[in-house]
Amino acid sequence: MIPLAVPNLAGHEAEYLQECITSTFVSTVGPFVTRFEEMVAAASGAKYAVATSAGTTALHAALLSVGVGRDDLVIAPSFTFIASIAAIAHCGALPWLFDVSPENWSIDVTLLANKLENETHRRADGVLLHTETGRRVSAILPVFTLGIPAQMDEINELAKAHYLPVVVDAAAALGTIYKDRPSGSLGADFTMFSFNGNKTVTAGGGGIIVTDDPEKARLFRHLTTTARVGADYDHDMVGYNYRMTNLQAAVGCAQMENLGRFVEVKRNIARKYREAFSDLPGIAPFPDPEYARSGHWFSGIVVNSRDLGQLADIRVRLREAGIDARPFWKPAHLQAPYVGAPRTEMTVCDNLWQRIMTLPCSTGLSVADQDFVVDKVRRQFANN
Ligand SMILES: Cc1ncc(COP(=O)(O)O)c(C=O)c1O
Repeated sequence: MIPLAVPNLAGHEAEYLQECITSTFVSTVGPFVTRFEEMVAAASGAKYAVATSAGTTALHAALLSVGVGRDDLVIAPSFTFIASIAAIAHCGALPWLFDVSPENWSIDVTLLANKLENETHRRADGVLLHTETGRRVSAILPVFTLGIPAQMDEINELAKAHYLPVVVDAAAALGTIYKDRPSGSLGADFTMFSFNGNKTVTAGGGGIIVTDDPEKARLFRHLTTTARVGADYDHDMVGYNYRMTNLQAAVGCAQMENLGRFVEVKRNIARKYREAFSDLPGIAPFPDPEYARSGHWFSGIVVNSRDLGQLADIRVRLREAGIDARPFWKPAHLQAPYVGAPRTEMTVCDNLWQRIMTLPCSTGLSVADQDFVVDKVRRQFANN
């Protein structure tokens, strides 16, 4: 099977892991963790970075760090991986789910402006309330879908106007550019990157938070390191054991050495699919907005010309041919724990999600394998 997205571990991973074993630094203390944080801070254009056990745990602690509390609402796109929304629920809060823009599959900023204007009001003490539910609105959580930065200038402006902190889920957007700025330096309070196994660079598992604010970085580090004070057993808050291990960071450091090259490979894979399918009627490429230089974490197509049954059959046939063609995220408003959450109309999201087919896009994908995928996909859409 030509896999969808598997790690490319051809660098110094084994050597750095051996260093961990030899030194016995395998846990959350160790030199690779610091080195990894410095590498990610530099690559993402941020001043501070704190590495965590997962992207999900980083989002949870970041939301807590900006003051999200029980029964609050956090604004988020419905079209995302479930972890973005689970992190909100882990705070005891509810998502306020938004539709996305067809241009970037990220939160629709016109809808955001409209809903903030017309469906919230400010209490006498200054707290922003969602008028229908009476819940406090306490943060905005944009997601950089596929590694494409959301429209951050507009989001930051709205956040500022409504005194809302911004926690970005940029899980797959390390190495990508918004206008002329790297994805960790776009004015958010916190930005999260994930290093799970299907990301462009992996640490086996793991996440990181970046920020330019020293106080926020300190609070986040404290909260994710069991809120320990001093070297012994004093803890001044309810903390979390959420830090990355030296083993994960060793793999992460080796991967970061290849970040630039891996992003270029991903971009080339996306370009090749785009060109190869450009003449197929009813097939659209994934978005690639001009304001960004996407990292093209995943590649694939959007199929508008078939019914959903036909599309599922095509996926099965591609898998039978040895190609790991898959569906993509099911929106949060259709997921059991969140069906009751406040939400906007979902015109784009509802029409889009079942029409997406992701295609093999590992950074180790050979030219011959991508040619094979192109050929089989073309035949399927010509034959059907
Ligand atoms: C958009 C998005 N958010 C959050 C996550 C969660 O990251 P992790 O798997 O590191 O917890 C992922 C990763 O799979 C993701 O793609």
